[in-house]
Amino acid sequence: MKELIFVCNNCGNEFTKWAGQCLDCGEWNSLREVKNLKMVGGGGKKRVKRSEIKVINLGSVGRNSKKVNQVFSTEISEFDRVLGKGIVRGSVMLFSGEPGVGKSTLLTQVLGRVGGLYVTGEESLEQVRLRVKRLGLDEKNFDILVSNSLHEVEEVVGKAKDIYKIVVIDSIQVLMSDETGGVPGSMSQLRDCTFKLVGLAKKTGSAIFIVGHVTKEGNIAGPKLLEHMVDVVLHFEGEKSGELRILRTIKNRFGSSEEVGVFKMGEKGLRQVRSDEINLVNGVEVVAGRTVTVVMEGSRPMIVEIQALVTESFAPMPKRGFVGIDYNRGQILVAVAQKCLGLPLYKNDVFVSVMGGIKVADTGVDLAVIGAIYTSYKNKVLPAKSVLVGEVSLVGEVRKVRLMDRRMKEISGLGRKMFKIKNIKELRRI
Ligand code: TYD
Ligand code: MG
Repeated sequence: MKELIFVCNNCGNEFTKWAGQCLDCGEWNSLREVKNLKMVGGGGKKRVKRSEIKVINLGSVGRNSKKVNQVFSTEISEFDRVLGKGIVRGSVMLFSGEPGVGKSTLLTQVLGRVGGLYVTGEESLEQVRLRVKRLGLDEKNFDILVSNSLHEVEEVVGKAKDIYKIVVIDSIQVLMSDETGGVPGSMSQLRDCTFKLVGLAKKTGSAIFIVGHVTKEGNIAGPKLLEHMVDVVLHFEGEKSGELRILRTIKNRFGSSEEVGVFKMGEKGLRQVRSDEINLVNGVEVVAGRTVTVVMEGSRPMIVEIQALVTESFAPMPKRGFVGIDYNRGQILVAVAQKCLGLPLYKNDVFVSVMGGIKVADTGVDLAVIGAIYTSYKNKVLPAKSVLVGEVSLVGEVRKVRLMDRRMKEISGLGRKMFKIKNIKELRRI
């Protein structure tokens, strides 16, 4: 095995020879010389004798290994639910989200309750202190390390007298390992720093949160590469202009990755939101182009409002705009509405929006989207308090979606009624 390899800063691919352009991603001048980590430790001349290699029978681990699987609470029940039960000792969690969404705020709130080490490479000590004060948290719960150096983190965490329950790295993009080439945030740095942080967490038992900013496309900068190295991947999302924030698990080695946590950003940081508080429907009046649906976010139902605007188009290509639903899904629903309901949408601009700034992936929203388009075009209204739920197939049939009972319970609790139809053609009844 070669002692030196070349790693592309852009895509992270490894090469044995230097080249001006990365053969994989095509980036110019992105290859950097890196020591081959695989050489260190295993392999090479240092062969270990069989007697020195330890194999452990699982049956003998049993009760003594409590420490390893210890789970502790974040003291924020929404957060615990998203994680399964809580934080597992020695685990590594990637906490991703767009800049400004509230990553530092939420993790500061967790540390304020549990206590731990906050490594800040982006903000000054004063900025962190101001946030802690603003959130009304106890300053004594925070050990702050202002640093960009992975080595310093390893020293501090590895040699702490009382091992830190939680360590927050804010953020991985500015962390730097001096044993690796590349600028902070480059693929080789991201990968090496994360790799070493995983080792540090396993060795010490500290649970480490790694904050990672995402790029515009929604990828964690340095894409999937980091995801499989860590135990849990969390994603924090929401419109910065709105106050609602949703915490999702993308991957969870210790539990379900279905759950979501819902928060509201306010003056005093993030506040947990109860299920019955998530009513994103504003106003009660019945208006053409507005429908109400109930979507499932994990096991939580959320009542959301869909609005559509269908207007005559004067552009050579009519416009389509979708906010909060997938563009391709939206295009399909417009086509289904055109064919099955006989609407001449080919000469109309169609805009559809999920109100409240949330993104809906649940296909149960389909019928509400078509209902909003239909009522906007026809200038009709649905019966007051009706709710549309169902996946719409390409031929216009309405299909049941998962957790229908849970949704029914939610809407009847709010005094609303399901508008039941089997085919979207029945919308013409209204
Ligand atoms: P921040 O946690 O710094 O975001 P991130 O770490 O994800 O980049 O939060 C940024 C926004 O949150 C900022 O615009 C201010 C707002 N904010 C509040 O509204 N209330 C608060 O109590 C705090 C601390 C921040
Ligand atoms: Mg931040």
